[in-house]
Amino acid sequence: MKVDVLTGLQWGDEGKGKIVDCITPKYKIVARFQGGPNAGHTLEFDGKKFVLHLIPSGVFHNDTLNVIGNGVVIDPVVLARELDDLEKLGVDTAARIVISKKAHLITPFHKLLDAAQEASKGSSKIGSTLRGIGPAYTDKVARTGLRIGDSERDNFRQRFNNHRERCIDTLKAMGAKPESTLALEDEWFEALYRISELRFVDSEYDLNEALDKGERILAEGAQGALLDVDFGSYPFVTSSNTTTSGACTGLGISPARIGQVYGIFKAYCTRVGSGPFPTELHDAMGDHLRKSGNEFGSTTGRPRRCGWLDLPALKYAVMLNGVTGLIMTKIDVLNDVSEIGVCTAYKTADGETRRLPWDLNDAIPVVKYFKGWNGSLSHVAKEADLPPQARDYIAFIEEYIGVPVIILSTGPDRTQTVMLKD
Ligand code: GDP
Ligand code: IMO
Ligand code: MG
Repeated sequence: MKVDVLTGLQWGDEGKGKIVDCITPKYKIVARFQGGPNAGHTLEFDGKKFVLHLIPSGVFHNDTLNVIGNGVVIDPVVLARELDDLEKLGVDTAARIVISKKAHLITPFHKLLDAAQEASKGSSKIGSTLRGIGPAYTDKVARTGLRIGDSERDNFRQRFNNHRERCIDTLKAMGAKPESTLALEDEWFEALYRISELRFVDSEYDLNEALDKGERILAEGAQGALLDVDFGSYPFVTSSNTTTSGACTGLGISPARIGQVYGIFKAYCTRVGSGPFPTELHDAMGDHLRKSGNEFGSTTGRPRRCGWLDLPALKYAVMLNGVTGLIMTKIDVLNDVSEIGVCTAYKTADGETRRLPWDLNDAIPVVKYFKGWNGSLSHVAKEADLPPQARDYIAFIEEYIGVPVIILSTGPDRTQTVMLKD
């Protein structure tokens, strides 16, 4: 058996949570491989809405194990809150969720550093979610991080104290020495104790052994390709590899064991936080997409910037991820848009190109317009039910990208999902 991967192809918030939840019944295990509480994955079913930040989106299915992989950075306070919320709904979290011993911890000091670093950048700030992601991954790479497994060692308090000293020194040097952090630390240790009710496991062994037994695994990405630390719009990116390769390192899976790669994208584009966005609409249409798509961050509530679909960027993300099947979401948001724009190339001094410039600030989009369908898609259960204009839009995207759209999402609810191809 191989691991199938689901990754975002834009700047995050493509609808990963909804789709993972929809396809989980096919899988024995769902595993998150990177990111942390910067993610907000929304699921809707039976008239209820849930936003998950650290727990994989397979958690509402009885027969699926949810793994938080070594590549994830965990804030125990956020995780404990999520566990409490799920338990109130009757989810047996201890049976359904396990954590890699090698996953790194986000401490209160990482969050303070995140805020201080952003403040020091002034107008060139990244627009971080301020969840401590960058500083936690920095500690990981600097080989000074604290891991889930470390929390079970006798010397953990001492190691935490050393970490506190290091962080306070850095904060002081930035002129951001905190008052007292005792309350934050108490809350953090309490939460750490709470999450120790989950099993801490050698998840790389468990996952590979599950594959050997023929079990199906879905790797759930967070963020999106254009936020990838290597290939995204650097420095306006997150601090992990959001693409398929991140699933290998973030779970301990060999590249030879990657199976299908599902790439998910919205029928238009959004971005939350700073950084270049070539097809951004600063006009009434941008406002319309934001309102109609309810484009406000699932984690921070910030308004998302909106714009047309960017095909060169999408093709780039498909190439990086090795996407075998596309999933298109939020097509319903275009229901009453009579002229739908799509970026097909960029203008450069040497003419038009379909290659993403290495600096996205240099990307001037060439936009082609499609006739809209001006009507609801709520009746659509199969491809043939789609209005011809919607079919043309999808066919153009498939032709341009060279990969079929296999799932179409026509609303936030689990049931508003159309399987176009097997
Ligand atoms: P994720 O981070 O990729 O999981 O996406 P988010 O949950 O942050 O943002 C996607 C938002 O769009 C959520 O509010 C979803 O409920 C919603 N959503 C998902 N698919 C659709 C869809 O097809 N149509 C509409 N209108 N909303 C959708
Ligand atoms: P999901 O998984 C959208 C953005 C932030 C900021 C940049 C860096 O829900 O799609 P960070 O907190 O990682 O240091 O922020 O990345 N960002 C996201 N944008 N969806 C997300 O996750 C994001 N996670 C981080 O807004 O611009
Ligand atoms: Mg999100």
